[in-house]
Amino acid sequence: MYHFTNSIFYTLMQQKIIILDFGSQTTQLIGRRVRELNMYCEILPYNKFPIDDPEVIGVILSGSPFSVYDEKAFKADLSVIRGKYPILGICYGAQYIAYTNGGNVEPAGSREYGRQNLTTIDKSCPLFKGFDDNSQVWMSHGDTITAIPQGFKRIASTEDVHFAAYESETEPIWAVQFHPEVFHTTDGKKLLENFVVGICGSRQEWSPESFVKSTIAELQAELGNDKVVLGLSGGVDSSVAAVLLSKAIGDNLTCIFVNHGLLRKDEYESVIRNYSGMGVHIIGVDASDKFYAELEGVTDPEQKRKIIGRLFVETFNEEALKIKDVKWLAQGTIYPDRIESLNITGKTIKSHHNVGGLPEEMNLKLCEPLKWLFKDEVREVGLQLGIPRELIFRHPFPGPGLSIRILGAIDKESVRILQDADAIFINALRKYDLYDKVWQAGVILLPNKTVGVMGDERTYERAVVLRAVTSSDAMTADWADLPHSFLAEVSNDIIRGVKGVNRVCYDISSKPPATIEWE
Ligand code: XMP
Repeated sequence: MYHFTNSIFYTLMQQKIIILDFGSQTTQLIGRRVRELNMYCEILPYNKFPIDDPEVIGVILSGSPFSVYDEKAFKADLSVIRGKYPILGICYGAQYIAYTNGGNVEPAGSREYGRQNLTTIDKSCPLFKGFDDNSQVWMSHGDTITAIPQGFKRIASTEDVHFAAYESETEPIWAVQFHPEVFHTTDGKKLLENFVVGICGSRQEWSPESFVKSTIAELQAELGNDKVVLGLSGGVDSSVAAVLLSKAIGDNLTCIFVNHGLLRKDEYESVIRNYSGMGVHIIGVDASDKFYAELEGVTDPEQKRKIIGRLFVETFNEEALKIKDVKWLAQGTIYPDRIESLNITGKTIKSHHNVGGLPEEMNLKLCEPLKWLFKDEVREVGLQLGIPRELIFRHPFPGPGLSIRILGAIDKESVRILQDADAIFINALRKYDLYDKVWQAGVILLPNKTVGVMGDERTYERAVVLRAVTSSDAMTADWADLPHSFLAEVSNDIIRGVKGVNRVCYDISSKPPATIEWE
């Protein structure tokens, strides 16, 4: 174990691993894996190492879309970290270390891609503690290392990749050309643990419990007696931020929940009830009529989104301005929203923000207590705070709400029909334990009427479409293969129970080429 940190502080300070991002698609995954070891880490652009940060105990260099020979390749000055911290280079990170120290890197053959098995492995190397002899690793590189620098030695190879891993004989530097962060590297988790815990000396103290404790203390110290306003959306992130802040500063936090009239059935009332029940100071603003009035006759989805976005900000601001002496705007921004991702030009692209800006003259400071958390950590923190499971594991719901599930123009009657049908579908998913098996579900209301028959009479009413998808990130999605008997029951219940509907369809399109929402 390497102790680079001053020993008095060593036991007191938070520890962190820095992941220098050279632009790989899997950089965030490295961060996730380190956090899963209960170790705090930050992902920073390759050229932004925090030189004076005493909390750093180790550095990981990520992969990159570039070759070390590319003119635009990201080049970091490693002299600021060498000898000071243990370093682990991954893929491009490994090639970069080799290339900048007199080793050689050349274009790789196609055989160096995909699953491989280690054929030699230096079991005495601390990085490989507990590894299986022929452990499977995942390679994904365009270049390969053909010679390692002097003073370094090979510690693993595969049939096709001679220098699958190497280490320095004089410094705490390790490098692997495979990706320990991806699922296909079967001992990848072990390798990262060996580095983070075994080599860097992580105390593995990062946990939802420790986060809640330290964040409440930090918020109390930072906010003192200041007043804070937060826009609640009913979604997971803003809810967790609200409860965390409420525990820290009590009624100095005011949460504003705007009803745009396009929420799920009874959602407005239940959000107010649930949060008040958790001790959160919440103000509900029912602005439905204002939204309906401006949306009247609007059929273009983008236009709907724009109107709702603008009115939402106006309504929120109006209410926030009523809070006397408010100093802070709190947001449920989470880590993936803010990671400065590198684009191919080498410039960093900055974050997006959730809530539209409050008037400049209010001069509010921004408070983002979840800004270092990944989504699943937010959920764990939420559970730790005592927020009901049902709320924490809700399906995603779009900001413009049901407006983009009512095809064409919106009126109160359409909203009523859709809310009733949606409630039947969602309640049935919960009743039959299917809710957690799908990523997202909802109902779409079609604009035209269809012919049906009821008793001796013909009916001419609306058709609805059930939509349920499985997904892991909403970028791609498959239609959920729900049991026919379940769909039959939901269809019956909707046609019998929702006035104005005589036909129910099920959407069997995947994304791509379809999208999850219909508008
Ligand atoms: P699509 O329909 O593009 O949706 O496959 C992907 C995810 O994004 C949600 N979605 C939205 N969320 N405002 C939002 O806050 C929007 O305008 C919006 N449009 C789509 C959608 O529900 C799904 O989770």
